[in-house]
Amino acid sequence: MIYLDNAAGSSPKAPGLGQAMANVIEHGAANINRAVNAATARTEIDIISVREKIAAFFGCPDPRYLIFTSGITMSLNLLIKGLLHAGDHLLISAMEHNAVWRPANQLMRAGVAVDVVPCDVQGRLQLEELEKRFRPETKLMVLCHASNVCGTVQDAAAVAKLCHAHGVPLALDCAQTAGHLPLDMQELGVDALCFTGHKGLLGPQGSGGFAVLPELAARIEPLIAGGTGSTSDSGDMPAFFPDRLEAGTMNLPGIIGLGHSISFVQSQGLDKLFRHEMALTKLLLDGIADNPYVRVAGMPGLEGRVGVVSLDFLRQDNAAVSMDLEQEYGILTRCGLHCAPLAHRSLQTYPQGTVRFSPGWATTEEDIHTAVQAILDLA
Ligand SMILES: Cc1ncc(COP(=O)(O)O)c(C=O)c1O
Repeated sequence: MIYLDNAAGSSPKAPGLGQAMANVIEHGAANINRAVNAATARTEIDIISVREKIAAFFGCPDPRYLIFTSGITMSLNLLIKGLLHAGDHLLISAMEHNAVWRPANQLMRAGVAVDVVPCDVQGRLQLEELEKRFRPETKLMVLCHASNVCGTVQDAAAVAKLCHAHGVPLALDCAQTAGHLPLDMQELGVDALCFTGHKGLLGPQGSGGFAVLPELAARIEPLIAGGTGSTSDSGDMPAFFPDRLEAGTMNLPGIIGLGHSISFVQSQGLDKLFRHEMALTKLLLDGIADNPYVRVAGMPGLEGRVGVVSLDFLRQDNAAVSMDLEQEYGILTRCGLHCAPLAHRSLQTYPQGTVRFSPGWATTEEDIHTAVQAILDLA
């Protein structure tokens, strides 16, 4: 089996991840913040150290503002629904995942105005179009850092600068860049950085979170309310962080597992992992370059992208190609719209979708040679 679906979920995970999670469950498994016994304290210290590690990893200046969630979908919902109310205005790009588009549509029905800022056919946000769309009531811009459809990377720093010139905070969806590109929220100038554990960070499903600047955090109305083990006499969520946005018992094995997997990513080096991924992407793009029956969606070369490659087979049904790739060649890809119909409209691959190839840290050159041959055969 050749696994080329790392954009959906990395496989294999960081070595030792299963054991790190099993240790939590089999040797302790105490909840945190609920008691003052020794087992609780041990787990609490472990969680604090993962929080500090991840905050440093993303350049988050204060670890209390590194909020754990079940992943990016939850992070984006907490931000979008916690910040926008009837009469407000939300900006999103035309490359967004349904994790942004669907909550935006829910809010639209509740009286929030939403503008989708156009992107070109290679998936790049049109800054001059963004400039035209700011309004006095614009409360947030959400941007997908790298497209999960075609890998196009946005110039987040430039978008942040423009947003700030209009007094609008920027939330960045880093589903496809965390664990691939170095991310420092202060260098990028973003106000919130959302991440998921189960993709490039090589961690478990159901782990992730977001880092947020204190000024923006203070404006987020908690979407989920419940027990935090703190200020329990109050009927409201605590005013302090992270408790304000972390109600209920968290996925502690997942958080410990994510800490383990980020240590692995750091031990390998982001740079080395990214160079490997891009070398494989080059092999793939070069291998199919001369075939007139396959169109690469998004950026044609290596510039301005991560290693997510979407192909439109011009003479075939893309879903049938994806199925043939698995059944005849043992190559696992993803077809369809990849939960991002807006992006496919931008890339002109709607409604047919694409076949997506996303190599990972364990993919070999041999795997890509096999994939290229299969693509040429099927095209
Ligand atoms: C760009 C993008 N945003 C959001 C998500 C949702 O992430 P999660 O599964 O962690 O909620 C994904 C994953 O499919 C994605 O690729």
